[in-house]
Amino acid sequence: MPAVIHSLEELRGILDTWRNAGETVALVPTMGSLHQGHKALVQEATSQADRCVVSIFVNPLQFGAGEGFDEYPRSLVADEAFLADTLVDVVFAPSAEVMYPEGPGAAPTLSAGEVGDSFEGSSRPGHFDGVLTVVKRLFDYVHPDVAVFGCKDAQQVFVVREMVNQRALPIHIVEVDTVRDADGLALSSRNTHLSEAERVHAREIPRALDEAEKTPSASEALRVARSILDAAPGLVVDYVEMVDPETFRPPADTAGIREGRLIIAATAGTVRLIDNRLLRFGQ
Ligand code: PAJ
Repeated sequence: MPAVIHSLEELRGILDTWRNAGETVALVPTMGSLHQGHKALVQEATSQADRCVVSIFVNPLQFGAGEGFDEYPRSLVADEAFLADTLVDVVFAPSAEVMYPEGPGAAPTLSAGEVGDSFEGSSRPGHFDGVLTVVKRLFDYVHPDVAVFGCKDAQQVFVVREMVNQRALPIHIVEVDTVRDADGLALSSRNTHLSEAERVHAREIPRALDEAEKTPSASEALRVARSILDAAPGLVVDYVEMVDPETFRPPADTAGIREGRLIIAATAGTVRLIDNRLLRFGQ
């Protein structure tokens, strides 16, 4: 059973003990409400370092007005139990005061730059600045050797990687493939808000990725995915795009690329869903 700690003093004490013993540390940042997707990250983390910290903090800075910060599920007791059969050493569950002693409004906000303003950032202004601010602070608190993120949030892991590279932080960023339900839908704490009918509509998202993967070129993949999603009843599409994995921007010439990440955001009912897949062409 992992130890659950709330204060920085406790965290520092434990980290000191580990460091003095020469042990490496992996961090898995989460907002709780843990599911099998998070567990895959935890399993990767515990295999990559001697010790593993899972942070659970619903970060107010990454929620815009009306984006459900207050409604976000908080379930620390269930999350602890969920991690009981893992090798996680510590669950770090700070309060907002511990995370932002200066008050969240006054916390210095990091900028996720141009990529941070596109796609998810365009629909959710300031979202990635808030993500980077909390992730950088968690890195400062934990000083992990390894930090593990899910490919499900491809743009998030892209901006985190950029921050780590720009600041030359000595942290190895590891990405874990998206974990899906049997029907293909990417696991997300938001899926519980889908009605049965909405869930059927939502399945068109992974279907679009599957069908796109069967095509011979990036432009054909994009066309197929768009036509499936545009025709899907009950889905309101926000974006369907192909981006260059190196830049997270649409390539100048989609037709000729050998590798692209197909990214999708769409809303079923009131639930906004994102998904993506790395596709390779002509190989
Ligand atoms: P949260 O949504 O709790 O996700 C925590 C981590 O789990 C992220 O790296 C996310 O990509 C990963 N994840 C979520 N669903 C997944 C799935 N189906 N398969 C694989 N990995 C999955 O992302 C956040 O929290 C926050 O923005 C955070 C990074 C903690 C900063 O507040």
